[in-house]
Amino acid sequence: MDFSLSEEHLMIRQAARDFTQNELKPGVIERDTNMTHPTEQVKMLGEMGFMGMMVDTKYGGSGMDTISYAIVIEELSKIDNSCSVIMSAHNSLVCWGVEAYGSEEVKQKFLTKLASGEMIGGFCLSEPEAGSDATSQRTTAEDKGDYYLLNGTKNWITNGKKAGAYVVIAQTDREAAHRGINAFIVDASSEGVTTGVKEDKLGIRASDTSSVMFSDVKVPKANRLGPDGFGFKYAMKTLDGGRIGIGAQALGIASGAYELALAYSHERSAFGKPINQHQAVSFKLADMAMEIEAARMLVYRAAWLKDQGKDYATAAAMAKLFASEVAMKSTVEAIQVHGGYGYVKEYHVERLMRDAKITQIYEGTSEIQRLVIARNVIKGEPYLPI
Ligand code: CAA
Repeated sequence: MDFSLSEEHLMIRQAARDFTQNELKPGVIERDTNMTHPTEQVKMLGEMGFMGMMVDTKYGGSGMDTISYAIVIEELSKIDNSCSVIMSAHNSLVCWGVEAYGSEEVKQKFLTKLASGEMIGGFCLSEPEAGSDATSQRTTAEDKGDYYLLNGTKNWITNGKKAGAYVVIAQTDREAAHRGINAFIVDASSEGVTTGVKEDKLGIRASDTSSVMFSDVKVPKANRLGPDGFGFKYAMKTLDGGRIGIGAQALGIASGAYELALAYSHERSAFGKPINQHQAVSFKLADMAMEIEAARMLVYRAAWLKDQGKDYATAAAMAKLFASEVAMKSTVEAIQVHGGYGYVKEYHVERLMRDAKITQIYEGTSEIQRLVIARNVIKGEPYLPI
């Protein structure tokens, strides 16, 4: 078993680290405070090949593996989780499924623009009455022969107002329940598509989250992703990959908070010595380091399983669940290590704590991850599907 990263992974990590320090860190507090979308920074992510990281080079993507993707998300998330969620939702929830299940026509029309970052994607699954219970879709797509007529409202959509295209999950046959759901790629400029206000959130405040409304939107038949009735499984498979991205985000938040706390513990003295020479602080740092390592193993392992073409649904749920709990705990502890300084914006850790909370909610709450893991292990899935 080899735990070392390849030369290529190390180079990608360095590039992401430099980008985070040079382009994301300056201005991150202001963007968070004012809810300013990081438009310029996202454009740069596209230029670096990070907006189509795992997309085949023949569609203009970077053709990288999932481990590289997790590494980049982790690095960005040490500082700027608005940027990392924009990138994660775009790559995992939009590019992946369009490449896996879109027709060649759809790939030429949408994927080439998505992969370069010229177009941003949004994933529309959640609804006012369908959050965790994703089978209860109220949005309908009526089959009208050569097109579907789309009607409904989607909530909490990352990239909601900035997206040029949405992957939309909708009910085509209510009688057939989850087998009557389909997925579509919808041009955001289509007549009948509108968006709500940008949500004023606790964390990831600069990212664009809004509702998206569809009113008699005509969606060409060719825009359906996968065979008829495949939409629910499409969404579940998409979320399996998305959970690796959010696991990596949570890992980055925890690592970022830990690095800040460690540095501060060297600088700050109390009772005549650096605070990390007091057991009360050193034990916190020890626990954080250990838990972050465990989270990293789970996240990288889930990414590795996906790259190997093995089943990764349970591994991704474990990675997301564990890493998000570590993110929450580590950020709270990092504030404690900083004392009063941790409570003010300038020191970055209070923002990381606010950002950590969403990793326990989006792309399936912690309760949903437990449900997925429990169902799979109870039905006999091997604990270590290597
Ligand atoms: N891969 C493939 N198929 C899957 C699957 C998976 N991971 N999980 C379930 N399925 C299949 C099942 O095999 C079943 O198929 P059959 O009918 O052929 O047997 C079918 O899907 C229905 O499965 P379940 O009976 O398990 O469905 P359920 O109603 O019990 O729900 C759930 C399962 C796990 C609770 C699911 O609804 C879920 O994951 N909910 C959470 C939704 C979520 O994560 N929302 C977040 C929104 S996206 C977001 O946050 C975006 C953002 O912008 C950041």
